[in-house]
Amino acid sequence: MGRRVKSRGWLTQGWVWGSAIALGALLFVACGGGSSGHPTSAPTPTSASTTPTTLVVQDAKLSAADFRNVNTMTRVGDHFIANVRGHFAEALAVARSANGGTYPVGTIIQLVPQEAMVKRAPGFSPATHDWEFFSLETSPSGTRILSRGGAKVVNRFGGSCASCHGAAQPQFDLVCGTTHGCAPLPIGPDVIAAIQKSDPRPKS
Ligand code: HEC
Repeated sequence: MGRRVKSRGWLTQGWVWGSAIALGALLFVACGGGSSGHPTSAPTPTSASTTPTTLVVQDAKLSAADFRNVNTMTRVGDHFIANVRGHFAEALAVARSANGGTYPVGTIIQLVPQEAMVKRAPGFSPATHDWEFFSLETSPSGTRILSRGGAKVVNRFGGSCASCHGAAQPQFDLVCGTTHGCAPLPIGPDVIAAIQKSDPRPKS
């Protein structure tokens, strides 16, 4: 089980939370985490015309411990959202907009405790609008990741996350809700609410 999307060289694999990778023409990496092997001081400033074009790419490669009881997240309609990279206000604005929008990196969205979508860095998975899909197992001791990745991830019923969510109108960034064009789930709001309420994970 557990298919994973092949990570690309520039992803922040194994780095601590909140760190970002810096790509520069001169391969100078001024890294806040101070990991060994990287220069600890910035390159000597040069004239404005030769300023290195350093691009800082923020990513959100989450681990099981990053997922929390859904009832601690912010409810929007019938689902929950959070953002682990400091872009919560932006994420909430997209979620609440009647016109849709693109969610910022680090956004977590969940309808039920057992499934989540997380917005990764641009380029992670163009086919899924850079969403990483997760199938999760939850218990009083926490979260276990059953599978994760892009278009190939299926839920515990064998349903492809991407194929259902791909039916959302393009401006809604693969979020279905009840009005974005996806085929409705075969369960009603009362069942969804009961599943949400039964999240066994600690709330703190
Ligand atoms: C059979 C189609 C189908 C499959 C398969 C499916 N979903 Fe969904 N999903 C939906 C629909 C429809 C909704 C909206 C339900 C509602 O709001 O009542 C939804 C809601 C969600 C939401 C809340 C945000 C939103 O889009 O409304 C998340 C997050 C989510 N699903 C993640 C996943 C993940 C992750 C997988 C795979 C592990 C998955 N889903 C598989 C159809 C599907």
